[in-house]
Amino acid sequence: MTTPTQHRLCMIPGPVEFDADVLSAMATPATSHVDPLFIEKFGSAIELLRKVFFAPTGQPFVVAGSGTLTWDATAANLIENGDNVLVINTGIFGDWFAECIGVYGGVVDAVRAPFGSRPSLAQIEAALTSKHYKLVTVTHVDTSSGVLNNIEDICALVKRVSPNTLIALDGVCSVGAEVIKQEEWGIDVVMTGSQKALGVPPGLAVMVVSKRALEVALNRKSPPTTYFASFKKWLPIMQKYEARQASYFATPPVQLILALQVSLEQLVAAQGSLEHRFAQHRVASAKVKDTLESWGLKIVPVNRACAANTLTAVYYPAGVAPAEFLGKVGSRGVVLAGGLHPEHATKYFRIGHMNVSVVNDSLVKHLDTTLNAIKAALQECGHKI
Ligand SMILES: Cc1ncc(COP(=O)(O)O)c(C=O)c1O
Repeated sequence: MTTPTQHRLCMIPGPVEFDADVLSAMATPATSHVDPLFIEKFGSAIELLRKVFFAPTGQPFVVAGSGTLTWDATAANLIENGDNVLVINTGIFGDWFAECIGVYGGVVDAVRAPFGSRPSLAQIEAALTSKHYKLVTVTHVDTSSGVLNNIEDICALVKRVSPNTLIALDGVCSVGAEVIKQEEWGIDVVMTGSQKALGVPPGLAVMVVSKRALEVALNRKSPPTTYFASFKKWLPIMQKYEARQASYFATPPVQLILALQVSLEQLVAAQGSLEHRFAQHRVASAKVKDTLESWGLKIVPVNRACAANTLTAVYYPAGVAPAEFLGKVGSRGVVLAGGLHPEHATKYFRIGHMNVSVVNDSLVKHLDTTLNAIKAALQECGHKI
Protein backbone atom coordinates (compact mmCIF):
# COMPACT_ATOMS: atom_id res chain seq x y z
CA MET A 1 0.00 0.00 0.00
CA THR A 2 1.40 3.41 -0.88
CA THR A 3 0.32 6.85 0.22
CA PRO A 4 -0.35 9.41 -2.55
CA THR A 5 3.13 10.93 -2.16
CA GLN A 6 4.77 7.51 -2.49
CA HIS A 7 2.48 6.51 -5.32
CA ARG A 8 4.17 4.74 -8.18
CA LEU A 9 2.48 4.94 -11.57
CA CYS A 10 0.44 1.80 -12.10
CA MET A 11 1.19 1.05 -15.76
CA ILE A 12 0.13 -2.60 -15.73
CA PRO A 13 -2.68 -3.90 -17.93
CA GLY A 14 -5.21 -3.32 -15.17
CA PRO A 15 -5.90 -1.98 -12.67
CA VAL A 16 -4.98 1.23 -14.47
CA GLU A 17 -4.50 4.74 -13.09
CA PHE A 18 -7.74 6.41 -11.98
CA ASP A 19 -9.17 9.74 -13.02
CA ALA A 20 -9.63 12.10 -10.03
CA ASP A 21 -13.34 12.63 -10.72
CA VAL A 22 -13.93 8.87 -10.92
CA LEU A 23 -12.16 8.36 -7.61
CA SER A 24 -13.88 11.19 -5.82
CA ALA A 25 -17.28 9.84 -6.89
CA MET A 26 -16.54 6.96 -4.51
CA ALA A 27 -15.83 9.15 -1.50
CA THR A 28 -19.42 9.29 -0.25
CA PRO A 29 -20.81 8.83 3.21
CA ALA A 30 -22.64 5.53 3.76
CA THR A 31 -25.32 5.41 1.12
CA SER A 32 -28.28 3.05 0.90
CA HIS A 33 -28.51 1.02 -2.28
CA VAL A 34 -32.11 2.22 -2.52
CA ASP A 35 -31.30 5.88 -1.95
CA PRO A 36 -32.98 7.89 -4.74
CA LEU A 37 -29.68 9.55 -5.61
CA PHE A 38 -27.98 6.17 -6.02
CA ILE A 39 -30.92 4.76 -7.99
CA GLU A 40 -30.57 7.68 -10.41
CA LYS A 41 -26.84 7.06 -10.90
CA PHE A 42 -27.23 3.29 -11.30
CA GLY A 43 -30.02 3.81 -13.83
CA SER A 44 -27.83 6.26 -15.72
CA ALA A 45 -24.86 3.82 -15.71
CA ILE A 46 -27.07 1.10 -17.22
CA GLU A 47 -28.19 3.46 -19.98
CA LEU A 48 -24.64 4.64 -20.65
CA LEU A 49 -23.39 1.06 -21.00
CA ARG A 50 -25.61 0.59 -24.06
CA LYS A 51 -23.82 3.55 -25.67
CA VAL A 52 -20.32 2.42 -24.72
CA PHE A 53 -20.96 -1.12 -26.00
CA PHE A 54 -22.81 0.15 -29.12
CA ALA A 55 -25.72 -2.07 -28.14
CA PRO A 56 -28.91 0.00 -28.24
CA THR A 57 -31.17 -3.00 -27.52
CA GLY A 58 -28.76 -5.00 -25.35
CA GLN A 59 -29.31 -5.73 -21.68
CA PRO A 60 -26.55 -4.47 -19.40
CA PHE A 61 -25.69 -6.31 -16.18
CA VAL A 62 -23.48 -4.78 -13.49
CA VAL A 63 -22.74 -6.91 -10.44
CA ALA A 64 -20.09 -7.09 -7.75
CA GLY A 65 -17.26 -9.24 -9.01
CA SER A 66 -14.42 -9.12 -11.48
CA GLY A 67 -14.02 -9.95 -15.15
CA THR A 68 -13.84 -13.65 -14.36
CA LEU A 69 -17.36 -13.59 -12.98
CA THR A 70 -18.61 -12.57 -16.44
CA TRP A 71 -17.17 -15.85 -17.77
CA ASP A 72 -19.03 -17.77 -15.09
CA ALA A 73 -22.21 -15.84 -15.82
CA THR A 74 -21.93 -16.49 -19.56
CA ALA A 75 -21.28 -20.19 -19.11
CA ALA A 76 -23.77 -20.80 -16.28
CA ASN A 77 -26.61 -18.99 -18.07
CA LEU A 78 -26.04 -20.06 -21.69
CA ILE A 79 -24.47 -23.50 -21.49
CA GLU A 80 -26.24 -26.73 -20.58
CA ASN A 81 -24.56 -30.05 -19.97
CA GLY A 82 -23.02 -31.39 -23.18
CA ASP A 83 -23.34 -28.19 -25.26
CA ASN A 84 -20.50 -27.69 -27.74
CA VAL A 85 -18.43 -24.53 -27.36
CA LEU A 86 -15.63 -23.28 -29.61
CA VAL A 87 -12.97 -21.16 -27.93
CA ILE A 88 -10.81 -18.97 -30.17
CA ASN A 89 -7.57 -18.92 -28.23
CA THR A 90 -4.89 -16.24 -28.39
CA GLY A 91 -3.36 -16.74 -24.97
CA ILE A 92 -3.82 -18.02 -21.46
CA PHE A 93 -7.12 -16.20 -20.92
CA GLY A 94 -8.57 -18.40 -23.67
CA ASP A 95 -7.38 -21.48 -21.78
CA TRP A 96 -8.88 -20.23 -18.53
CA PHE A 97 -12.19 -19.27 -20.16
CA ALA A 98 -12.30 -22.79 -21.65
CA GLU A 99 -11.67 -24.28 -18.21
CA CYS A 100 -14.52 -22.17 -16.81
CA ILE A 101 -16.93 -23.34 -19.53
CA GLY A 102 -16.01 -26.95 -18.74
CA VAL A 103 -17.02 -26.41 -15.12
CA TYR A 104 -20.58 -25.69 -16.33
CA GLY A 105 -20.78 -28.77 -18.56
CA GLY A 106 -19.69 -27.25 -21.88
CA VAL A 107 -17.71 -29.48 -24.24
CA VAL A 108 -14.89 -27.27 -25.46
CA ASP A 109 -12.85 -27.32 -28.67
CA ALA A 110 -10.19 -24.69 -29.19
CA VAL A 111 -8.61 -23.15 -32.25
CA ARG A 112 -5.12 -21.96 -31.44
CA ALA A 113 -2.18 -20.13 -32.90
CA PRO A 114 1.49 -19.91 -31.91
CA PHE A 115 2.19 -17.45 -29.07
CA GLY A 116 1.96 -13.90 -30.40
CA SER A 117 -0.38 -14.63 -33.29
CA ARG A 118 -4.05 -15.39 -33.80
CA PRO A 119 -5.87 -18.27 -35.50
CA SER A 120 -6.70 -17.64 -39.16
CA LEU A 121 -10.26 -17.23 -40.36
CA ALA A 122 -9.79 -20.44 -42.37
CA GLN A 123 -8.95 -22.35 -39.16
CA ILE A 124 -12.04 -20.95 -37.46
CA GLU A 125 -14.23 -21.74 -40.47
CA ALA A 126 -12.96 -25.32 -40.56
CA ALA A 127 -13.86 -25.75 -36.88
CA LEU A 128 -17.29 -24.15 -37.33
CA THR A 129 -18.17 -26.47 -40.20
CA SER A 130 -17.00 -29.61 -38.38
CA LYS A 131 -19.93 -29.61 -35.91
CA HIS A 132 -22.61 -27.36 -34.48
CA TYR A 133 -21.44 -25.09 -31.69
CA LYS A 134 -23.94 -23.46 -29.37
CA LEU A 135 -21.40 -20.80 -28.45
CA VAL A 136 -18.17 -19.33 -29.80
CA THR A 137 -16.01 -17.41 -27.39
CA VAL A 138 -13.24 -15.07 -28.40
CA THR A 139 -10.84 -12.93 -26.40
CA HIS A 140 -10.60 -9.46 -27.91
CA VAL A 141 -7.25 -8.63 -26.32
CA ASP A 142 -5.49 -11.49 -24.59
CA THR A 143 -3.66 -9.74 -21.79
CA SER A 144 -1.14 -12.57 -21.56
CA SER A 145 0.11 -12.10 -25.14
CA GLY A 146 -0.94 -8.59 -26.11
CA VAL A 147 -2.66 -10.07 -29.16
CA LEU A 148 -5.68 -8.27 -30.60
CA ASN A 149 -8.30 -10.36 -32.36
CA ASN A 150 -10.17 -9.35 -35.52
CA ILE A 151 -13.63 -9.45 -33.98
CA GLU A 152 -15.59 -7.89 -36.82
CA ASP A 153 -14.25 -10.49 -39.29
CA ILE A 154 -14.80 -13.38 -36.89
CA CYS A 155 -18.38 -12.30 -36.24
CA ALA A 156 -19.07 -12.00 -39.98
CA LEU A 157 -17.66 -15.50 -40.46
CA VAL A 158 -19.78 -17.01 -37.68
CA LYS A 159 -22.90 -15.30 -39.09
CA ARG A 160 -22.17 -16.72 -42.53
CA VAL A 161 -21.18 -20.27 -41.56
CA SER A 162 -23.16 -20.91 -38.39
CA PRO A 163 -25.73 -18.17 -37.84
CA ASN A 164 -27.40 -19.88 -34.86
CA THR A 165 -24.17 -19.99 -32.87
CA LEU A 166 -24.03 -17.45 -30.07
CA ILE A 167 -20.95 -15.22 -29.89
CA ALA A 168 -19.39 -14.21 -26.57
CA LEU A 169 -16.60 -11.65 -26.50
CA ASP A 170 -14.16 -11.42 -23.62
CA GLY A 171 -13.65 -7.67 -23.76
CA VAL A 172 -12.03 -7.42 -20.33
CA CYS A 173 -8.91 -5.79 -21.77
CA SER A 174 -10.63 -3.95 -24.61
CA VAL A 175 -14.03 -2.44 -23.75
CA GLY A 176 -13.71 1.33 -23.75
CA ALA A 177 -10.46 1.37 -25.75
CA GLU A 178 -10.70 -0.97 -28.76
CA VAL A 179 -13.54 -0.63 -31.27
CA ILE A 180 -16.49 -2.88 -30.43
CA LYS A 181 -19.81 -2.49 -32.25
CA GLN A 182 -21.74 -5.11 -30.31
CA GLU A 183 -25.05 -4.91 -32.13
CA GLU A 184 -23.77 -4.11 -35.61
CA TRP A 185 -21.34 -7.04 -35.45
CA GLY A 186 -23.91 -9.34 -33.86
CA ILE A 187 -22.13 -10.17 -30.60
CA ASP A 188 -24.39 -11.81 -28.03
CA VAL A 189 -22.39 -11.20 -24.87
CA VAL A 190 -19.67 -8.61 -24.32
CA MET A 191 -17.88 -8.89 -20.98
CA THR A 192 -15.56 -6.67 -19.02
CA GLY A 193 -14.34 -5.75 -15.55
CA SER A 194 -14.21 -2.27 -14.09
CA GLN A 195 -10.45 -1.95 -13.62
CA LYS A 196 -9.16 -1.81 -17.18
CA ALA A 197 -10.12 0.64 -19.91
CA LEU A 198 -13.21 1.70 -17.97
CA GLY A 199 -10.77 3.15 -15.43
CA VAL A 200 -12.73 2.23 -12.29
CA PRO A 201 -11.24 0.42 -9.27
CA PRO A 202 -11.54 -3.38 -9.39
CA GLY A 203 -14.76 -4.94 -8.16
CA LEU A 204 -17.37 -4.80 -10.93
CA ALA A 205 -18.33 -7.48 -13.42
CA VAL A 206 -19.91 -5.68 -16.37
CA MET A 207 -21.63 -7.25 -19.35
CA VAL A 208 -24.15 -6.49 -22.08
CA VAL A 209 -26.27 -9.37 -23.36
CA SER A 210 -28.24 -9.50 -26.62
CA LYS A 211 -31.98 -10.20 -26.75
CA ARG A 212 -31.20 -13.50 -28.48
CA ALA A 213 -28.84 -14.68 -25.73
CA LEU A 214 -31.21 -13.53 -23.02
CA GLU A 215 -33.96 -15.66 -24.56
CA VAL A 216 -31.63 -18.67 -24.58
CA ALA A 217 -30.80 -18.08 -20.92
CA LEU A 218 -34.40 -17.55 -19.84
CA ASN A 219 -35.76 -20.55 -21.77
CA ARG A 220 -33.10 -23.15 -20.98
CA LYS A 221 -34.24 -26.67 -20.13
CA SER A 222 -32.27 -27.02 -16.89
CA PRO A 223 -32.09 -24.24 -14.29
CA PRO A 224 -29.04 -21.94 -14.52
CA THR A 225 -26.08 -23.47 -12.72
CA THR A 226 -25.48 -20.33 -10.68
CA TYR A 227 -27.43 -18.45 -8.06
CA PHE A 228 -25.50 -15.20 -7.69
CA ALA A 229 -24.79 -14.74 -11.41
CA SER A 230 -28.19 -15.79 -12.73
CA PHE A 231 -29.52 -13.54 -15.50
CA LYS A 232 -33.03 -14.48 -14.32
CA LYS A 233 -32.29 -13.04 -10.89
CA TRP A 234 -30.54 -9.90 -12.09
CA LEU A 235 -32.72 -8.98 -15.08
CA PRO A 236 -35.61 -7.50 -13.02
CA ILE A 237 -33.09 -5.68 -10.85
CA MET A 238 -31.42 -4.02 -13.83
CA GLN A 239 -34.82 -3.19 -15.32
CA LYS A 240 -36.03 -1.64 -12.05
CA TYR A 241 -32.94 0.51 -11.56
CA GLU A 242 -33.18 1.67 -15.13
CA ALA A 243 -36.81 2.62 -14.51
CA ARG A 244 -35.49 4.55 -11.47
CA GLN A 245 -37.15 2.21 -8.98
CA ALA A 246 -35.75 0.60 -5.86
CA SER A 247 -34.94 -3.07 -6.08
CA TYR A 248 -32.90 -5.76 -4.37
CA PHE A 249 -31.42 -9.17 -5.10
CA ALA A 250 -27.91 -8.82 -3.62
CA THR A 251 -26.37 -5.58 -2.38
CA PRO A 252 -24.74 -3.67 -5.24
CA PRO A 253 -21.30 -2.13 -4.59
CA VAL A 254 -22.71 1.38 -4.30
CA GLN A 255 -19.47 3.37 -4.42
CA LEU A 256 -18.04 1.42 -7.36
CA ILE A 257 -21.22 1.96 -9.34
CA LEU A 258 -21.06 5.69 -8.60
CA ALA A 259 -17.51 5.67 -9.97
CA LEU A 260 -18.57 3.65 -13.00
CA GLN A 261 -21.28 6.15 -13.82
CA VAL A 262 -18.76 9.00 -13.87
CA SER A 263 -16.31 7.00 -15.95
CA LEU A 264 -18.99 6.06 -18.50
CA GLU A 265 -20.07 9.69 -18.77
CA GLN A 266 -16.47 10.62 -19.51
CA LEU A 267 -16.26 7.87 -22.11
CA VAL A 268 -19.28 8.98 -24.07
CA ALA A 269 -18.26 12.62 -23.77
CA ALA A 270 -14.65 11.87 -24.87
CA GLN A 271 -14.10 15.08 -26.80
CA GLY A 272 -17.09 14.38 -28.96
CA SER A 273 -17.08 10.63 -29.44
CA LEU A 274 -15.97 7.19 -28.44
CA GLU A 275 -14.26 6.91 -31.82
CA HIS A 276 -11.95 9.67 -30.67
CA ARG A 277 -11.10 7.71 -27.54
CA PHE A 278 -10.38 4.58 -29.60
CA ALA A 279 -8.10 6.66 -31.84
CA GLN A 280 -6.28 8.03 -28.78
CA HIS A 281 -5.53 4.45 -27.69
CA ARG A 282 -4.17 3.63 -31.15
CA VAL A 283 -1.89 6.69 -31.03
CA ALA A 284 -0.65 5.89 -27.51
CA SER A 285 -0.03 2.26 -28.41
CA ALA A 286 1.93 3.21 -31.53
CA LYS A 287 4.03 5.65 -29.51
CA VAL A 288 4.98 2.97 -26.97
CA LYS A 289 5.63 0.28 -29.56
CA ASP A 290 7.57 2.55 -31.95
CA THR A 291 9.75 3.77 -29.09
CA LEU A 292 10.51 0.29 -27.78
CA GLU A 293 11.29 -0.97 -31.27
CA SER A 294 13.58 2.00 -31.90
CA TRP A 295 15.54 0.80 -28.85
CA GLY A 296 15.97 -2.65 -30.39
CA LEU A 297 13.19 -4.45 -28.50
CA LYS A 298 10.77 -6.90 -30.12
CA ILE A 299 7.08 -6.91 -29.31
CA VAL A 300 5.32 -10.22 -28.68
CA PRO A 301 2.53 -9.94 -31.30
CA VAL A 302 3.93 -11.05 -34.63
CA ASN A 303 2.74 -7.94 -36.43
CA ARG A 304 1.07 -4.63 -35.67
CA ALA A 305 -2.26 -5.74 -37.14
CA CYS A 306 -2.64 -8.24 -34.32
CA ALA A 307 -1.14 -6.06 -31.59
CA ALA A 308 -3.44 -4.68 -28.90
CA ASN A 309 -3.77 -0.96 -28.36
CA THR A 310 -4.47 -1.36 -24.65
CA LEU A 311 -1.16 -2.91 -23.69
CA THR A 312 2.24 -3.71 -25.09
CA ALA A 313 3.80 -7.12 -24.47
CA VAL A 314 7.49 -6.92 -25.30
CA TYR A 315 10.43 -9.33 -25.03
CA TYR A 316 13.35 -8.51 -22.74
CA PRO A 317 16.44 -7.88 -24.83
CA ALA A 318 19.22 -10.46 -24.51
CA GLY A 319 21.06 -10.21 -21.21
CA VAL A 320 18.38 -8.24 -19.35
CA ALA A 321 17.16 -10.11 -16.27
CA PRO A 322 13.40 -9.72 -15.52
CA ALA A 323 13.55 -9.13 -11.77
CA GLU A 324 16.46 -6.67 -12.00
CA PHE A 325 14.83 -4.73 -14.84
CA LEU A 326 11.37 -4.54 -13.25
CA GLY A 327 12.98 -3.53 -9.94
CA LYS A 328 14.88 -0.71 -11.61
CA VAL A 329 11.75 0.55 -13.36
CA GLY A 330 9.94 0.36 -10.02
CA SER A 331 12.61 2.37 -8.27
CA ARG A 332 11.92 5.11 -10.83
CA GLY A 333 8.31 5.22 -9.72
CA VAL A 334 6.68 3.07 -12.39
CA VAL A 335 5.08 -0.34 -11.93
CA LEU A 336 5.04 -2.67 -14.94
CA ALA A 337 3.80 -6.26 -15.22
CA GLY A 338 5.95 -9.27 -15.94
CA GLY A 339 4.99 -11.97 -18.42
CA LEU A 340 1.86 -14.00 -17.65
CA HIS A 341 1.69 -16.87 -20.11
CA PRO A 342 3.10 -19.85 -18.18
CA GLU A 343 5.21 -21.08 -21.11
CA HIS A 344 6.79 -17.70 -21.87
CA ALA A 345 6.46 -15.68 -18.66
CA THR A 346 10.17 -15.03 -18.10
CA LYS A 347 10.79 -13.79 -21.64
CA TYR A 348 8.62 -10.68 -21.77
CA PHE A 349 7.03 -7.87 -19.80
CA ARG A 350 3.85 -5.87 -20.22
CA ILE A 351 2.94 -2.19 -20.16
CA GLY A 352 -0.68 -1.15 -19.82
CA HIS A 353 -1.84 1.99 -21.62
CA MET A 354 -5.50 2.65 -21.04
CA ASN A 355 -7.92 5.33 -19.93
CA VAL A 356 -6.48 8.32 -18.06
CA SER A 357 -2.86 7.49 -18.97
CA VAL A 358 -3.86 7.71 -22.63
CA VAL A 359 -6.63 10.23 -22.89
CA ASN A 360 -4.87 12.78 -20.68
CA ASP A 361 -1.38 11.90 -21.93
CA SER A 362 -0.38 15.44 -22.84
CA LEU A 363 -1.29 16.51 -19.29
CA VAL A 364 -0.23 13.61 -17.10
CA LYS A 365 2.74 12.40 -19.18
CA HIS A 366 2.33 8.83 -17.93
CA LEU A 367 3.62 7.39 -21.19
CA ASP A 368 6.76 9.55 -21.25
CA THR A 369 7.46 8.87 -17.57
CA THR A 370 7.08 5.13 -18.23
CA LEU A 371 9.22 5.11 -21.36
CA ASN A 372 11.93 7.16 -19.64
CA ALA A 373 11.98 4.73 -16.71
CA ILE A 374 12.20 1.77 -19.10
CA LYS A 375 15.02 3.39 -21.08
CA ALA A 376 17.10 4.13 -17.98
CA ALA A 377 16.50 0.65 -16.54
CA LEU A 378 17.44 -1.03 -19.83
CA GLN A 379 20.68 0.94 -20.00
CA GLU A 380 21.53 0.13 -16.39
CA CYS A 381 20.90 -3.54 -17.18
CA GLY A 382 23.50 -3.29 -19.95
CA HIS A 383 21.26 -2.92 -23.01
CA LYS A 384 22.71 -0.47 -25.55
CA ILE A 385 20.21 2.00 -26.96
C1 LIG B 1 -8.64 -10.78 -21.25
C2 LIG B 1 -8.99 -11.01 -19.82
N1 LIG B 1 -10.05 -11.76 -19.53
C3 LIG B 1 -10.42 -11.99 -18.27
C4 LIG B 1 -9.71 -11.47 -17.21
C5 LIG B 1 -10.14 -11.74 -15.82
O1 LIG B 1 -10.56 -10.56 -15.22
P1 LIG B 1 -10.46 -10.33 -13.65
O2 LIG B 1 -9.03 -10.40 -13.28
O3 LIG B 1 -11.06 -8.96 -13.49
O4 LIG B 1 -11.26 -11.38 -13.01
C6 LIG B 1 -8.60 -10.67 -17.47
C7 LIG B 1 -7.80 -10.09 -16.37
O5 LIG B 1 -6.75 -9.55 -16.54
C8 LIG B 1 -8.24 -10.43 -18.81
O6 LIG B 1 -7.19 -9.67 -19.10
